[in-house]
Amino acid sequence: MKRWHEAFAWLLLVASALGLRACSSLELLNETDLERAKKHFPSTTMEQLHSGRDLYARKCGACHILHPASKMTLDEWQNEITKMKRKVQLDEQDVRLIEIYLSAGARDSSIQ
Ligand code: HEC
Repeated sequence: MKRWHEAFAWLLLVASALGLRACSSLELLNETDLERAKKHFPSTTMEQLHSGRDLYARKCGACHILHPASKMTLDEWQNEITKMKRKVQLDEQDVRLIEIYLSAGARDSSIQ
C-alpha cells in the first residue's frame, strides 16, 4: 500500500515538472532577438521584448498552442492579431508589445 502511494507521489512530481517545462517552452530572448526586433521597431528595449513575450504567452496561449514566431512574417502576424483581437481583450499597448516580441522571431519577409 505504501509503495503505491510513493509511486503516485513520484508520478505527481514528474507531471508537475513536465508542466513547468511546458510553461517555459518559449525560447529565451537574447541580444540577437533585440537586434532583429529593432529592425522593425527601432526603439525596442529588452524589457519590452520580455513584456511582449509574457503577454503573448498569457493572452495568445489561452485557447490554442502558442504558434512559434517563425511561422509567419510580421505582416502575417499583424493580420492574425487583428483577427484574434475579436476573441481576446488587448489594448493598443498590448498589441504593440506582442508585435515587438513576434518581430524578433518572425519569418523574414524577403525569404519566401
Ligand atoms: C478566445 C480564444 C483565442 C485566443 C485568446 C486567441 N486565439 Fe488564436 N485562434 C482561436 C481560434 C478558435 C482559431 C481558429 C479559428 C479562427 O481562425 O478563428 C485561432 C487561430 C489562430 C491562428 C491561425 C492558426 C493557423 O494555423 O492558421 C493564429 C496564428 C492565432 N490564432 C494566433 C493568435 C494570437 C497571436 C493570439 C493573441 C493575440 C491568439 N491567437 C489568441 C482562438 C483564440
